[in-house]
Amino acid sequence: MNNETLTVQVSGKWVEAQDICGFELRNPDGTSLPAFTAGSHIDVHLPGGLVRQYSLCGDPGSADRYEVAVLRDAGGRGGSIAIHDLVHVGDFLQVSVPRNHFAIEQNATRHLLLAGGIGVTPILSMAEYLSSRGESFDMHYCTRSESRTAFIARISESDFCDRVQFHYDNGDASQRFDLTSTLTEEQESTHLYVCGPRGFMDGVLSAARAQGWTEDRLHYEFFSGTVTKLEGDAPFQVRLASSGAVVDVPAGSTVVEALATHGVEILTSCEQGVCGTCLTRVLEGQPDHRDSYLTEEERASGDQFMPCCSRSKSTLLVLDL
Ligand code: FES
Repeated sequence: MNNETLTVQVSGKWVEAQDICGFELRNPDGTSLPAFTAGSHIDVHLPGGLVRQYSLCGDPGSADRYEVAVLRDAGGRGGSIAIHDLVHVGDFLQVSVPRNHFAIEQNATRHLLLAGGIGVTPILSMAEYLSSRGESFDMHYCTRSESRTAFIARISESDFCDRVQFHYDNGDASQRFDLTSTLTEEQESTHLYVCGPRGFMDGVLSAARAQGWTEDRLHYEFFSGTVTKLEGDAPFQVRLASSGAVVDVPAGSTVVEALATHGVEILTSCEQGVCGTCLTRVLEGQPDHRDSYLTEEERASGDQFMPCCSRSKSTLLVLDL
């Protein structure tokens, strides 16, 4: 994990749609920022100490600026309100270098892009990249209403506008998104990319899996996780490989919390199992994965887990700490 941070300056802020603000970030000295690929995100350190991940929605080919768009979520955990209300043009922010856990499959010959709401941010970047390369793709963009739809003008004026279908929840039945037939009509080689609210993504992924889409063709990135706490969650222990210290993890605590009480700090960000910041190697024991970050294959291999939310099926986990 690269924890390098950069100082950027907010060079633009605008209303992109109802409750959605766009932000443009540049290097204060005018030089280029580290390059990124479509699907990348950055961690943004916000006023008040929160750190949030936002997908880059600008052109991956132009490293002179980063662009993010954020939905103000009054019922959220405070990050979106902080960036909407407290971040202004001219402010300086610390951000991470771009990371990409949602990359386009370079060997695929056909791509299906599905965006729900503000999940359009990485999907738009992908559409622009694929269009610039002359690749075969279609995009479906589902939102509650036209007024809540970010980037309508940018998409409508793009070279690929004829590849994009907008679907509004409050629109008439003829324009509703028909997920089942969209998936059915695709070829067996198509790769699917989905980003949006949890329910939208779960619906898309379970429909695709039910139709036999294989995991290697499904690409997704969750914005927020639902960390599962189960009635029967049992206490367990973790052992630190470096010191041999053994720490109890009570039923109601996370591994991160339990280690912190013993002076062992693990860097975290989302604390919901979505960002990957706390990724820790497991040397012995069987993790009980509760995150939305690892792929099915990574989970099955059992050699890494997310201590901010995941637990243990075995009574002891030995961690590479
Ligand atoms: S802190 Fe984000 S996955 Fe653990």
